[in-house]
Amino acid sequence: MSVTLPSIVLVPGAWTAPKAYHKLIGALEAKTFKAVREVVQPLVDAGQEVIMLMNSYGGIAGTSGIRNLTRKDRQARNLPGGAVSLIYMAGFMLSEGQTIRTVVQAVNLPGRSSLVKFSSDNSTWFPIDPIWLLYHDLSPEDQEEQVKLLKWGNAAILTGQTTYAAWKDIPTLYVRSLKNRWLPPQFQDFCLQNAADATAPVSVAALDSGHSPYVNFAAELAQSTFEAAIDARAHLS
Ligand SMILES: *[C@@H]1O[C@H](CO)[C@@H](O)[C@H](O)[C@H]1NC(C)=O
Ligand SMILES: *[C@@H]1O[C@H](CO)[C@@H](O)[C@H](O)[C@H]1NC(C)=O
Repeated sequence: MSVTLPSIVLVPGAWTAPKAYHKLIGALEAKTFKAVREVVQPLVDAGQEVIMLMNSYGGIAGTSGIRNLTRKDRQARNLPGGAVSLIYMAGFMLSEGQTIRTVVQAVNLPGRSSLVKFSSDNSTWFPIDPIWLLYHDLSPEDQEEQVKLLKWGNAAILTGQTTYAAWKDIPTLYVRSLKNRWLPPQFQDFCLQNAADATAPVSVAALDSGHSPYVNFAAELAQSTFEAAIDARAHLS
């Protein structure tokens, strides 16, 4: 099950420039947390145990969207199902109140601003060299496929605060991506320091991947997900 929504094509009127719609576009993107919830809620209501597999900014939306939907929360209220496990693959694992910008500013690596470009009103952004930044370790065929699937993103996610750090409450696997240029190892260290500070029992694995291990380490991620499912089942029974 994926929480990717259909693409939305916003067609401007005769006199209106596309960027005039930025408030609506922002409001649509703000629904990301809600979109996560709308997918997870019916699953847990049906008694399903859910594993959240999160990439990049999905680490923020994916935990913020499941407040009160963890197995522990549900059990305390005599409700069935619930989120039992989290897996971060090249993802942001942040504490409540932190944003992507929090990490960028705290780690302060040189040259970060030359990696992305912004639209003239700063409402959307895009990688300047997506292959170098996100797909450098993929085959040319995979690079071509992934680049075609990219779209300009909402820049508001840079300052979108984490509202719930589910990794404090649920067994979590943080899969490091050692060659990641967009979410480099120093950013991953920041995330793991969050876990250490909160004494959260986060397991750590590592892949020799860039930002997109879901392409070239798909089998390894599938195996980790399978193992997390077995572990979660063992803890429940
Ligand atoms: C979670 O539960 C708390 C306490 O019951 C409640 O105040 C809050 O609104 C709930 N949050 C969500 C997102 O459902
Ligand atoms: C966009 O951001 C840049 C860099 O922060 C700033 O110089 C510029 O004034 C901003 N433009 C708008 C339209 O807000």
